Amino acid sequence: MRKKIIAGNWKMNKTVAEAVELSNEIKRELADCNSVDVVLCPPFTAVKSVSDVVSETLINVGAQNMSSEENGAYTGEISHSMLKELFVRYVILGHSERREYYKETDFWINKKVKKALEKNLRPILCVGEKLEDRESGNTEQVVEVQVREGLKDVPAEAYTDLVIAYEPVWAIGTGKTATSEQAQEVHAFIRSIVKDMVGEDAANAVRIQYGGSMKPDNAVELLAQPDIDGGLIGGAALDATSFAAIVKAAM
Ligand code: 13P
Repeated sequence: MRKKIIAGNWKMNKTVAEAVELSNEIKRELADCNSVDVVLCPPFTAVKSVSDVVSETLINVGAQNMSSEENGAYTGEISHSMLKELFVRYVILGHSERREYYKETDFWINKKVKKALEKNLRPILCVGEKLEDRESGNTEQVVEVQVREGLKDVPAEAYTDLVIAYEPVWAIGTGKTATSEQAQEVHAFIRSIVKDMVGEDAANAVRIQYGGSMKPDNAVELLAQPDIDGGLIGGAALDATSFAAIVKAAM
């Protein structure tokens, strides 16, 4: 039985003061939640403050990106050791916004995934098709390449620490959610690719989140699907009541 995981991707929102306020509100609602893994992913500038707020609770902290390199002359980048020092446990990698606006490729995303795993950080690898891919019937083809390339050379035993987030780009921030059938279909497809790559045990162990306009009112149905193991939440994660309601839907 896979434990559900709900992560809030705050994207480029929340100053430190606002992040402290939001994480305190979430802590009040969810501090003792142990049936679902809860992860807050603030912007880098607020990671330390959010870590301080949720220390001594079961709430985890994640980052929204990480360098594939150890350290050195990489202006603007953040390394695994900088994150781990702040008690970060998860890291979102290959989000569609980073693929689209910052031209991140599967090659670099794969390097980051492997570095994160090597350093005991849990990657949340994001994959998902654009609207034109779906409309031209290429959803599976696009997602398959992202999964195979993003997870290239990742050993089977690492899949228990790995999370894949299926986020159809056309559903992100648009209010258009994939139907639970559409999402389940792609989740099952992703699991079948993992099975083909590294075997059935890893395919059964890996957690696959859905992301894209997940809200309290659609979370229950999405999370009831057999291959949907959680959510990666954008907009609704910026409101403590909505985020907590989604976590409760996963309980
Ligand atoms: P929304 O929930 O705002 O659609 O964002 C989803 C997302 O991109 C999470 O990473």
